[in-house]
Amino acid sequence: KECIKVGLLGAGTVGSGVLTVLEENTAEIEKKVGVPIHVSKILVRDMKKAKELSEKYQLTDKIEDIVEDPEIDIVVELIGREHPAKEYIAAALEHKKNVVTANKDVLAKYGKELFPLAEENKVDFMFEASVGGGIPIIRPLKSCLAANKVTSVMGIVNGTTNYMLTKMSQENMDYADVLREAQEKGYAESDPTADVGGLDAARKLVILASIAFNTRIDLSDVLVEGIDGLDLCDIEHGKELGYAIKLLAIAKNNAEHGISVCVRPTMLPVSHPLAGVNDVFNAIFVTGDAIGDAMFMGRGAGKMPTASAVCGDIIDVARNIIHKSNGRINCTCFDEKHLCSLEN
Ligand code: NAP
Ligand code: HSE
Repeated sequence: KECIKVGLLGAGTVGSGVLTVLEENTAEIEKKVGVPIHVSKILVRDMKKAKELSEKYQLTDKIEDIVEDPEIDIVVELIGREHPAKEYIAAALEHKKNVVTANKDVLAKYGKELFPLAEENKVDFMFEASVGGGIPIIRPLKSCLAANKVTSVMGIVNGTTNYMLTKMSQENMDYADVLREAQEKGYAESDPTADVGGLDAARKLVILASIAFNTRIDLSDVLVEGIDGLDLCDIEHGKELGYAIKLLAIAKNNAEHGISVCVRPTMLPVSHPLAGVNDVFNAIFVTGDAIGDAMFMGRGAGKMPTASAVCGDIIDVARNIIHKSNGRINCTCFDEKHLCSLEN
């Protein structure tokens, strides 16, 4: 294969970040994959609105132009929300396209339909950016920590609300003003109700807990309370008592009581490691019988950190395609100067 071709669905906050990363780091990425990665088509809703984009890329407003294009290897879904994103992902998988997505709304609700579809069609379906923005957490849970009996996954998994709580606490900013700021920065969902109401964190918890406990957790299993009932007084009161308020997502797997999953604002002593996780940062604690405690932290939302995770998935899928087409095993070794592939 001389090149990997990507069909991008949606060029909003994250989609435009992906275009920037693939463009600015072209040479670096080509060295790591072995061949260049090209975005060959982009699905937009309104062709007239996307005039600037059309100067560089081929645009379409028809999903068939992408999923039925035999040249496209990877479909990257970044339009967000449940519909038509779920139908577009399913159509891509049915057409044997590898799929990368950041869409936790679709994964939390329709993962049980889509993962078997990917398996049936023998294609990759990757979603690192769906939880924790730029933080590597899906791959570590799926592979590096796979040998553990995981007993707990908990942390801050929504960047918008952590940004809001930080600004309200440190700068006494008003709830509505700080929510507007989080939207302007590209952290919030197009409808931020899911961020402030805790549903976005609940969707991410479903994804994390399903992988960590190797079972399927349902969104309806999660007890959800957001920060929409909080105001400056609650935060001030907590501060006076030596606590920081954080929106925590908590999943526990207890031998006696089974699995429990909840999202709720929690008062943490300021000495607790999560109390100092501020701004748009997220942090996830994983506890396993072999590893003990491990914490993953980084920027949990925003254009470039999220694009970093999406592009990491694109690169991994591209490597798989190259290795399959070359009949080589997907394995790398370090030989002092280079990372190189091992021949099968
Ligand atoms: P966004 O800024 O709203 O971008 C979505 C883009 O998709 C917009 O350009 C929109 O066009 C386009 N679009 C929507 N429906 C479409 C359709 N039916 N056909 C063609 N284009 C369509 O959203 P985003 O922040 O980039 O988020 C994208 C996905 O990443 C979501 O699933 C989100 O949950 C996830 N995510 C976001 C972040 C973040 O920090 N923003 C982090 C992690 C994961 P219009 O502008 O014309 O509507
Ligand atoms: N709206 C989400 C957040 C985007 O603020 O965390 C990242 O998933």
